[in-house]
Amino acid sequence: KKSVRDVEVSGKRVFVRVDFNVPLENGKITDDTRIRETLPTIQYLSERGARVILASHLGRPKGQVAEELRLTPVAARLSELLGKPVAKADEAIGDAVKAQVAALQDGEVLLLENVRFYAGEEKNDPELAKAFAELADLYVNDAFGAAHRAHASTEGIAHHLPAVSGLLMEKELDVLGKALSNPERPFTAIVGGAKVKDKISVIENLIKIADNIIIGGGLSYTFFKARGLEIGKSLVDNDRLELVQEFERQAKEKGVNFLLPVDVVVGDAFSNDANTNIVPVDQIPADWEAFDIGPKTRELYAETIANSKLVVWNGPMGVFELEPYKQGTLAVAEACAATSGYTVIGGGDSAAAVEKFHLGDKMDHISTGGGASLEFMEGKALPGVVALNDK
Ligand code: 3PG
Repeated sequence: KKSVRDVEVSGKRVFVRVDFNVPLENGKITDDTRIRETLPTIQYLSERGARVILASHLGRPKGQVAEELRLTPVAARLSELLGKPVAKADEAIGDAVKAQVAALQDGEVLLLENVRFYAGEEKNDPELAKAFAELADLYVNDAFGAAHRAHASTEGIAHHLPAVSGLLMEKELDVLGKALSNPERPFTAIVGGAKVKDKISVIENLIKIADNIIIGGGLSYTFFKARGLEIGKSLVDNDRLELVQEFERQAKEKGVNFLLPVDVVVGDAFSNDANTNIVPVDQIPADWEAFDIGPKTRELYAETIANSKLVVWNGPMGVFELEPYKQGTLAVAEACAATSGYTVIGGGDSAAAVEKFHLGDKMDHISTGGGASLEFMEGKALPGVVALNDK
């Protein structure tokens, strides 16, 4: 795919789709990673005299204006980070926006209002895509985190303008693409999270590529139940007992080392003051619930990670938000931080865990995409990427 580096940008009006969908608490940004990660693209354009028009969604306002989801705090934070003013529009299309764009000087930056205030955004309405396109001469997609959505500002607009990737998009595709198409070996994939349903396609795809697959989190207990073990009150997906057995069969057939927990932390409550116990996986008491991997499993997983040349991690090992159940996810994060292998952290929960444990700067790549990096690992084409111009 063509990138912003392959085109002339000086003096041009450039519509840049970014993913500024950042977490907010009482109007304050609690994690600005996604904003900081787009600075290279914005600076690149601004320094070369482009007139930069930024567009993003924030939250899920469902096609209506929601005051608490305006991008005003984002514009302020971006301005601080860039060290220069960022103009903010109160809308994303229309005459007022056109006037603000027309007033932009070379190198200046304007942030449009939340594109999801318009019903046409998520419907990928051609009219809205055209209205966005009319604001600019060039389209740059730097929103890797939203690339799995075929929306007007991520996909539709690319059909109306020359369309290239931004520097963050390029980096994400490069790292994830290389990891999955030509992995350094041994390649260990870590798949956690609560639900089997959310991880079916990623496990299926990784069985074709990885040397080791490490399983943790709520989805593990379905594997135990499928083996006929007592899992007490633990999370289970009774409709997918055969499917998870099929995963184990396929892994065996392909010579993939498929690692499941050997012990777990069980608790009597989903809370910070729960009573807990450590048991082997074949001794989960009937009235208890498993919430994390146990110490033997932590050791086994850490050893596998230490011996890997490449590690890709998606999904926590337990309920890491709660003190009694954070050790498994912490141990995996520490093992990733310590290994000499290359580490790629899928966005969303795993990235949040790594940040919570302050191990972010010890990882080689933390994806800014949650759903997008998951779909990428599933081997799916991302509509926001497909729509960009080829070389
Ligand atoms: C994300 O946070 O994963 C992206 O910004 C996409 O958001 P969405 O799931 O609301 O489309």
